[in-house]
Amino acid sequence: MSKPKDNQHSTTSFGAPAVSDRNSLSTGPDGPILLHDVHFLEQMAHFNREKVVERQPHAKGGGAFGELEVTEDISRYTRAALFQPGTKTDLLLRFSTVAGEQGSPDTWRDVRGFSLKFYTSEGNYDLVGNNTPIFFVRDPMKFPHFIRSQKRLPDSGLRDNHMQWDFWTNNPESAHQVTYLMGVRGLPRTWRHMNGYGSHTYMWINASGEKFWVKYHFHTEQGMAFFSNAEAAQMAGMDADFHRRDLFDAIARGEHPRWRMSVQVMPFAQARDYRINPFDLTKTWPRADFPLIPVGMLTLNRNPENFFAQIEQAAFSPGNTVPGIGLSPDKMLLGRAFAYNDAQRNRIGTNFNQLPVNQPRCPVNTYMIDGEMNYHHTGDAPVYAPNSGGRQWADQTGPVEDGWEADGDMVRSAYTLRTDDDDFSQPGILVREVFDDAQRDALVETVAGGLLGGVRSPVLERAFEYWKNVDADIGRRIEEKVRSGSAPEPAAGMGEA
Ligand code: HEM
Repeated sequence: MSKPKDNQHSTTSFGAPAVSDRNSLSTGPDGPILLHDVHFLEQMAHFNREKVVERQPHAKGGGAFGELEVTEDISRYTRAALFQPGTKTDLLLRFSTVAGEQGSPDTWRDVRGFSLKFYTSEGNYDLVGNNTPIFFVRDPMKFPHFIRSQKRLPDSGLRDNHMQWDFWTNNPESAHQVTYLMGVRGLPRTWRHMNGYGSHTYMWINASGEKFWVKYHFHTEQGMAFFSNAEAAQMAGMDADFHRRDLFDAIARGEHPRWRMSVQVMPFAQARDYRINPFDLTKTWPRADFPLIPVGMLTLNRNPENFFAQIEQAAFSPGNTVPGIGLSPDKMLLGRAFAYNDAQRNRIGTNFNQLPVNQPRCPVNTYMIDGEMNYHHTGDAPVYAPNSGGRQWADQTGPVEDGWEADGDMVRSAYTLRTDDDDFSQPGILVREVFDDAQRDALVETVAGGLLGGVRSPVLERAFEYWKNVDADIGRRIEEKVRSGSAPEPAAGMGEA
């Protein structure tokens, strides 16, 4: 459907002139309205279906289109077409908050989503990351529980600090991500002023079939900038859509935000005995061991023309990979490879990949046919494989290009611990070596000055212990502040800190 021209007569959705957009059909000016006013009934029925289900997590967001230009030669690590030297690839980037619903304020404390869809010549490649390089849990079985603990109480429908800390303190692997979240990165000033990360470890495969493990980094060229608790709370009241507006207005002004893309690369075999589990999503890879390798520049340069069609109906999935890129033994990533497309079949519809924003820019030749709202079809091409009708079928056998060794009994178990695997070393380093004095003070203020409000025993004591495990001094200061009663009234939910 094309954009209407000025003064064009409005029509029904089936293209006939609309009889009236002002008056419904009635028997006499004051009489009852009539059932055969099809245009009116279509309006009412369509209105009732105008909203689709919101994303379960990451419901509130915004985004824009742009491109990635590869300025370096990294072809020794991957043969993926989009990462070859000089290649420019169109992309969509959607930012979001995790816990809030569609209308929630952009500036509440939360992790931010950083979802990329690259429209490559070999199919769509999606990289669905966050503004932090790590995550709260390392087994996908815990993810729905984690999200529910951040959302709302079943009886009152309110967000609840007690529930959040109950989950976090019962799952100490959350400490690294929670420390990031309670630090400055929990309140980015705008989406333009924050970094993005692929977070998981992915596989890259080069033209000779050699495999590597990689982590993606997108560093903001605008510089990092943050809100204080007070500024964020004030902005939440003044403009709940501040981040969405900031991005849209900046692009409309011709200020095109940019991020420098780089990767950390681990040789395939080194993963076997590296001192931390390289597939554990709660850990970063030390830069001293795996320095950043520059790749190129990502630029956002085009606003959506229609928010619903291009942002709300956008469907990203970490399972959407292209030749030269694979997944990894990270259990979270493997769980996600299922979850997203399934959510989108429910949220948007069976054929969500046929919508313009999700459509690949290369030929699609699939045996999956029909279904609700099917738009693309392959005419009378055979609908089964193998066939005698000249339609090829895929039949790769033997070792898979993007595979890895997996053997052993089936078990339900945490990952095997490596020498330096523990939950508190990396958050401790973050607090002691990355944060400065002002940031440490702000951390104590944020946690003790509101977010622990309303948290009851025994969760409160567990929270003190949790922070002492991160850093003895920070933990002591948080406990003292809460016990001395200098903490203000309980804040309802993370947002109000
Ligand atoms: C097993 C763990 C996880 C599961 C089951 C899961 C599931 C989901 C689901 C169902 C959605 C909504 C998708 C939609 O309706 O289109 C979603 C959105 C999202 N998730 Fe996850 N998630 C997991 C972990 C993660 C992690 C580790 C990250 C970041 C590193 C992440 C980042 C995002 C982002 C950015 C979105 C918004 C996507 C968009 O912009 O449309 N998730 N997640």
